[in-house]
This record gives sequence, C-alpha cells and structure tokens, in this order.
Amino acid sequence: VTVFVPGDSAALAVGADKVAAAIVREAKARGLDVQVVRNGSRGLLWLEPLVEVRSDHHRVAYGPVKVSDVPSLFDANFLEGGEHPLFHGQTKDMPFLSRQTRLTFSRCGVTDPLSLEDYRHYQGLKGLEKAIAMAPADIVKQVADSGLRGRGGAGFPTGIKWKTVLDAPGDRKYIVCNADEGDSGTFSDRMIMEGDPFVLIEGMAIAALATEATKGYVYTRSEYPHAIRVMTEAVRIAREAGILGPSVMGSGRAFDMEVRMGAGAYVCGEETSLLNSLEGKRGIVRAKPPLPALQGLFGCPTVVNNVMSLASVPVIMDRGAAFYRDYGVGRSHGTIPIQLAGNVKHGGLYETAFGLTLGELVYDIGGGTANGRPVKAVQVGGPLGAYFPPSLFDTIFDYEAFAAKDGLIGHAGIVVFDDTVDMLKQARFAMEFCAVESCGKCTPCRIGSTRGVETVDRIAHGIEPEKNRALLGDLCNTMKFGSLCALGGFTPYPVMSAMTHFPEDFAPTPLVEA
Ligand code: NAI
Ligand code: SF4
Repeated sequence: VTVFVPGDSAALAVGADKVAAAIVREAKARGLDVQVVRNGSRGLLWLEPLVEVRSDHHRVAYGPVKVSDVPSLFDANFLEGGEHPLFHGQTKDMPFLSRQTRLTFSRCGVTDPLSLEDYRHYQGLKGLEKAIAMAPADIVKQVADSGLRGRGGAGFPTGIKWKTVLDAPGDRKYIVCNADEGDSGTFSDRMIMEGDPFVLIEGMAIAALATEATKGYVYTRSEYPHAIRVMTEAVRIAREAGILGPSVMGSGRAFDMEVRMGAGAYVCGEETSLLNSLEGKRGIVRAKPPLPALQGLFGCPTVVNNVMSLASVPVIMDRGAAFYRDYGVGRSHGTIPIQLAGNVKHGGLYETAFGLTLGELVYDIGGGTANGRPVKAVQVGGPLGAYFPPSLFDTIFDYEAFAAKDGLIGHAGIVVFDDTVDMLKQARFAMEFCAVESCGKCTPCRIGSTRGVETVDRIAHGIEPEKNRALLGDLCNTMKFGSLCALGGFTPYPVMSAMTHFPEDFAPTPLVEA
C-alpha cells in the first residue's frame, strides 16, 4: 500500500516528518507492508499534514494528522480507506479541490516531486516535446496566442516579452526565473518548486528554445531551503536524463540551468536588482530602459519571468493556445493560483480561471475568518497591494477590474483581516516596510517612506490630523509617480486604500475626560 505524506514546508512545519516516521514505525510493528511517498502539498493547508492512501485507482485523504492519531488510523484500517474522524473521502472529491481548475498545479501533491517517471506518467515533458519540433517564432506565437500574462504581478504579456528577446541581437541569451517570492501571503512559487519542480524546468527549457537562450538561472530566496534543495536535485536529475545539457532531449539545442540563492532583500524580487544580485553586485535597482529583454543579465538579452509564468507554459504547449485562452475573463486568460492567507478558515492554494469575485474567494472558498469574527479588510497583491473592504467584494479577479478599483492582483495573494485590525497601523506598516526595504536609489522612496511613517504617527497622535492626512495624500502621489521601481511606486496603494476605505481609523483619538 502506498501512503502519501507531504514533504512540503507547510506540512513539515506542522510535523509531517514525524507523522511519516510514525506511520513507518506503526506499520512495521503490525507487520504491514507500507511504502511512504513524500509528495508535494495539495494546497489545503488547514488540513496539513494531509495523509493520503492509494488503493486500487483512487486516493483517500485523512487530515490534519498528528503523531498521536497514527495508531487509531491503523486501528480504523486506513490502509484500506477505513472510516475515521479525520477521514475526508476521496481526495479529488473534496470541495476545495473538486471546484478548482488545476492546469499549472495539476501534478502538485499528486506525484513524487523528484520522480521523472511520475512526471512523464502525468503528462510531463509533452509540451517540451512539441516545442522541440517547432521553430522559435512559432513557440513564441503559441505563448502569445494563449494570452498568458506575467504572473509575478505586473501582468505583462509573456509572448511579447519572449518576442523581444528572440528578436534582440546577441550571441548569448538567458532565461532568469524570478523565484524570490517576497509578497506576504504568497507561496505558490515555493509550492511548485517543492511539489513539481520538473514543470518549472520544462517551462524554462521551452522559453530557452523559443528565444534561443542557452543558460538559465532560478533565483530564489534563502528563506526557501526546501525549495532550493528540491529544485537543485531536480536540475541534476533532468541533466542526467538529457532534458538539460548540450542537446535538450536529443534536439541538438543546448540549454542548462542552475539554482541561485538571494540573501533576503525584498527589492531583489524587482527584476533589475535581481539581475544585479545574480551578477554578484549589490541588489540595487537599475533604471529602465534598457529593458532586461534587450540588455539584462551581463548585458545580454534576458527573459525574466516569474515561476508561475514559466510553469504555466508546458500545459500551453501541450494542450494548445486556444485551450488555455478559453479560461478566464476579459484580457485575463487562463488560470491563476490564488493563495488564501491571514485570518482565514480555509487557507491554501486555489487554482481557478480568472473571474471569481473577491467575496466568493474570501467567503465561499476561504470560509471567512478562522476565528469567526467579521472580515474587515483583505489585502490583495502583497505588502504593496491595496486593502479592499467588504463593500468592494464584488470586484472580480481580473487584472483590469482590480486596477479600476485602485488595486492590483500582484502575485495573487489574499490576506484576510478581521474587525480588530487597525488600518492606520497597517498604513504605517506599509511605509515602514518600504523604508526598511528601500534600495535607496531614488528620493521619493528612500526619504518619502520615512517621512510617511512620521506623518502617519502624527495623525495617530491627533497632531493637526486634517493637514497631515492631506500631506500623506500628497506624499503618496509623489511616491507613486516619482519612484523608480514598484517598491516606492506601489507603497501608496495600501496607504491610500486604508485611508480611503477606513477613514474612521484615521480620525483623531478623542481625548477622554478624567
Ligand atoms: P513593469 O510593468 O515595469 O514590467 C513588467 C515586465 O514587462 C518586466 O519584466 C519588464 O521588463 C517587461 N516589459 C515591459 N515592457 C516591455 C517590452 N516592451 N518588451 C519586453 N518586455 C517588457 O513591472 P515590474 O516593475 O517588473 O513589476 C511590478 C509588479 O511586481 C507589481 O505589479 C507587483 O505586483 C509585483 N511584485 C511581485 C512580487 C512577488 O513576490 N511576486 C513582489 C513585489 C512586487
Ligand atoms: Fe530603490 Fe525604492 Fe527607488 Fe525602487 S523605488 S529604486 S526600491 S529607492
């Protein structure tokens, strides 16, 4: 019997290693033959460790499993799918999973992340095989036709970026994967690197064939040791199998890649400071132009794409542009892995076509707050994303719809807050975060963020509140339009949205008479 115990960091953090060991121990003591596979996470994080048992042609789930539950699971005959208080039935029928459209995450949590055999069995490498038979310009066209847009946050059309690199003159070109997932409440990049690393390798190899690049880098953060370990091992396996190297799957075209680790600066997720960091320099932002697509890593034409963008490419190449494009709404095509975090009952990863409303995501899928208190606000798009009050929960998940409400989808992280949150403190946090993480290259961000903290403090202390609220608005405008990169440029979003939608938190504290 095969038992799956996730090896994903989210499961490890709640004791998955110990649970796996306890299952092996208990099986041995009872003389039962059990094979434990460490899969990725299915993304139902409130149920981790979610243990699955494969019998015949289906898998059943139990969770969250603690070490102390293991003997009772055996007593309940869980190896044959027996009833138990932690039993959830067939995994694929669990509502949180069955309602999803898993294109990018189709294998995550299903397979052994480092088994190439599993990867091939579940449609892996089909996209790359098709790409090998195509001319670079045709691969680019297919990606462009699919409507895929940059999943790192900016939503720039991936096909246009690749075309710029393909058309750029240069003997040497690079594929750089931005895996410096710094946004609060986001973990999709990490989950795919830990749970299905070959899909990222395949996506990068396709990008290389499309743009005639020969070398790739995955730039990830030091806070992701498990992802780094799994990715590095997957690259080694792929190289050994001839998927990477001098002749990608016997195509005669060369592409190899390696994993590099950052040192913890948020701004190194900005593409130009990421490139500086990769080159061994201080992670400071470069002015654009030149675009990295034309002069990127070591001055060469470079594709810089987020993990999710690259990991979405194999299915597009395999199933076709029209298949992918048909999902979604407006100009937001395909699916998006939404990450639900913060004070939410059902936190986790939910991949779905664009177009659900924020309210559906927070209440129907997330189940509202974990502690049952009313939702006061959600922040969408990381620490630089806007706060949305429930009155805007009819906003649909779509790049343009969010922009129209002065927000952004960003990396598709949603952080839920209950009614005890003080939005003035959240605004202060945004300014403070910017001050700490600023690379210091431009004045609106470097100086403005510190002045922002001081101004919020003056409002909090009731010092000329009206004047200081106006000043904060002016400062936000200066940062928004005068900053060199998204860090200074987007910090006004959380600040202004907090002030606009929750004015009561920015009112002077009334003096209490003694
Ligand atoms: P941007 O709009 O300046 O650029 C988007 C991308 O398109 C870049 O790669 C740029 O080089 C490329 N590009 C633009 N014009 C092009 C052209 N004509 N040809 C080829 N390529 C072209 O946005 P930026 O500064 O790269 O990213 C900002 C976003 O990053 C924000 O919206 C924010 O949501 C997101 N973000 C994501 C984080 C994460 O953890 N994933 C962390 C912080 C911010
Ligand atoms: Fe650096 Fe901030 Fe300017 Fe970006 S906005 S270049 S992080 S100082």
